[in-house]
Amino acid sequence: MNKKSNIPNPLMPTYSRFDIAFDRGVGAYLFDAEGGKYLDFASGIAVTALGHSHPHLVETLKEQGEKLWHTSNLFQIPLQEKLAERLVAATFADNVFFTNSGVEAMECAIKLARKYHSSQGHPEKYRIISFKNAFHGRSLATIAASGKEKLTKGFGPMPDGFDQVPFIDLEALAAAITPETAAILLEPVQGEGGILPATGEDLQAIRNIADEHGLLLIFDEIQCGMGRAGKLFAHEWAGVTPDIMAVAKGIGGGFPVGACLARASVGESLTFGSHGTTYGGNPLAMALGNAVLDIMLEDGFFEHVQGVTKTLMAGLRSLQQKYPALITDVRGLGLMIGVECTVKTRPLIAKALELGLVLAPSGENIIRLLPPLIIDEGHITEALAKLDQLFSEIKT
Ligand SMILES: Cc1ncc(COP(=O)(O)O)c(C=O)c1O
Repeated sequence: MNKKSNIPNPLMPTYSRFDIAFDRGVGAYLFDAEGGKYLDFASGIAVTALGHSHPHLVETLKEQGEKLWHTSNLFQIPLQEKLAERLVAATFADNVFFTNSGVEAMECAIKLARKYHSSQGHPEKYRIISFKNAFHGRSLATIAASGKEKLTKGFGPMPDGFDQVPFIDLEALAAAITPETAAILLEPVQGEGGILPATGEDLQAIRNIADEHGLLLIFDEIQCGMGRAGKLFAHEWAGVTPDIMAVAKGIGGGFPVGACLARASVGESLTFGSHGTTYGGNPLAMALGNAVLDIMLEDGFFEHVQGVTKTLMAGLRSLQQKYPALITDVRGLGLMIGVECTVKTRPLIAKALELGLVLAPSGENIIRLLPPLIIDEGHITEALAKLDQLFSEIKT
């Protein structure tokens, strides 16, 4: 007997998927094969920042798809240089390394922090301090950086060199610094950890601690970056810049793209042969990255995000007042919003799907709203009405 015939699903059981498959998407809407219509307030976990089938992205994909997909980094890739130049012009950074995913951007950031100190004559500085409940990806280094048992269990021993302190506990942070510390790493808004924004003062204080001790500051803006916070990057609200930043998700608008950005002296320590990737920054990915920036850098784009954020937050706060026994908090930055509930939210999210609204979880009791940045007031009215209906049906 074919042993495999007993296996009901050939995929490794890493995900607990909702019982729905989407067939196509247009703007802020997804459709199933039966024509069911869903308002997408999850954006594939903050990825489809410009919604589905954005005409400029579709056009770019078709044009580049017919021209050239991949050449490898053995050769010049003008579109890669163009995107790097535009990112550098728009940020603190002086140079960029392109990847295919968030975790690779983070891996590059971690390696860069170590390589920088090593190139400065301090190879003993290799440890990175991060914050409890952080999420930086699923490689061995990034699960070690998070330290969360849910991520690390069964995968030991963990790579050495990562220390965690409670989120924004500045005393604990200062106390954890040793002569071996290379960098401080944080998400300006913790995503998987429950949509917890650091304040501008927090970020400034952490920057000061890093400077005092000669440490690098790494921001993981994989989820909160690329316009989601209402500016190109969340840290811009605080006016505090990192030395290294990991970016992904929204930067490709749905095409897998990631990037590690750095200040000149830091990024230059990744010398020839010290790091690399086969796919990262290939012409097809770079065409889409540039196309996303074309739209985001248009006049008024971030103002639009800030405007709809205000409307959505006001509506959610009204719902909190209406359902105080169910909703304990509404928080976030820009269109990265957490609605904390007194009940487990996975069943709520399943119910929302039945009402035609796509939401994402964060932790056990938080509903995460990550709508595409192109939503308008009409989408918000529709989402709030569906949420109202959803909450009215929940017994607390
Ligand atoms: C803050 C943060 N860092 C890193 C990652 C990992 O990115 P990827 O899943 O593309 O590897 C994620 C993904 O959710 C994230 O939210």
